[in-house]
Amino acid sequence: MPRLDLVLTLIRAASREDIEGVKAAAEAMANEEVQLGHNRAADRIRTAIDGQKIVEPTLTRTGNGDAPEGLLVELPAKAGLDRLDLDDRSRSSLLALLTEQKQSGKLLKNGLSPRHKLLLSGPPGNGKTSVAEAVAHDLGYPLYVVSYGSLVGSLLGETNRRIESLFAQARRQPCVLFFDEFEAVGKERADKQETGEMKRAVASLLTQIDTLPSHVVAVAATNHPEMLDRAVWRRFEVKLVLDPPNYSRTIGFLVKQLDLDASLGLIQVLGQCFTNKSFAELKDFTLDVRRRAVLDDIDVHGSLRREIEMRFPELDWPTDDHRPDEAASKARPPKIVRKTERKKTKTSGKQDV
Ligand SMILES: Nc1ncnc2c1ncn2[C@@H]1O[C@H](COP(=O)(O)OP(=O)(O)O)[C@@H](O)[C@H]1O
Ligand SMILES: [Mg+2]
Repeated sequence: MPRLDLVLTLIRAASREDIEGVKAAAEAMANEEVQLGHNRAADRIRTAIDGQKIVEPTLTRTGNGDAPEGLLVELPAKAGLDRLDLDDRSRSSLLALLTEQKQSGKLLKNGLSPRHKLLLSGPPGNGKTSVAEAVAHDLGYPLYVVSYGSLVGSLLGETNRRIESLFAQARRQPCVLFFDEFEAVGKERADKQETGEMKRAVASLLTQIDTLPSHVVAVAATNHPEMLDRAVWRRFEVKLVLDPPNYSRTIGFLVKQLDLDASLGLIQVLGQCFTNKSFAELKDFTLDVRRRAVLDDIDVHGSLRREIEMRFPELDWPTDDHRPDEAASKARPPKIVRKTERKKTKTSGKQDV
């Protein structure tokens, strides 16, 4: 039996003679039947819609003069959640979502559906896009990115049709559908001047999200959560705030990325330099340190010192940091001294100079 919320969506769409809404709800029901292994039921639902299957849409933007790239672009999802630094709550919520998706058959058989609508907020550079990628990676689903900002910006006259075709394409298979810049939705809803096509387009987009089958994981991201009203928030089953790292996570991230064996003084210097930075800024800094180490033929620790002295000339290098100075490290063969090697050297009683 189709889920009650889908049946209700279908009835509501039918009662307002919204044929696209009826099709979307019916397609969602058919997809859930497929997941349950009820292929015949799915076929019967599909053929009941206008006596034919839903027309396969095209994904590229055409015939619109300034039409630039596609509205739905597949991105590679290269890394999983284990590569991200997340707070405990975010990590466990995401792992629960992954487990529910992986075991969706079991849930659906018992009249439950896996959660599949995720709203991510937080300042830029703290992992919203990375989480969408990681979810797709860990589920083995393709990652489709919807640029809603460009959709509302330049497709007057065609927006509704394109939203429908975009969703019809997406619901055909398990995937992660990523809506970046989702605050655009809130902006249109709040705009009192706007009564026409944009308002309808936003309503249609939200209806489409409501009727997505549970094998489509919708991930919306925004840097401006205050622009989304409660009705929009309510639609998402999992809401996570990805904040910049606090002091200890900042230090932990840098130490891990650079494989540092840092003294207390160095930890304090790092804290002074990098508090309130985003993960993206921290990551960029660690890449600069690694690049310098290679180009200057020094170890990562020496390179870190040079980068910090250059960027923060007002800071004193900590007195408890008894590492090789730059000249000494330069004189050594160009190799990165790793934590384990340094430990070995210490235990053998020799000074690492
Ligand atoms: N939580 C995190 N853990 C590890 N690296 C991160 C994290 N957040 C961001 N990064 C790094 O910063 C880069 C940009 O992050 P991104 O996910 O695009 O941020 P957002 O979408 O929130 O603006 C990522 O490619 C990654 O290298
Ligand atoms: Mg992003």
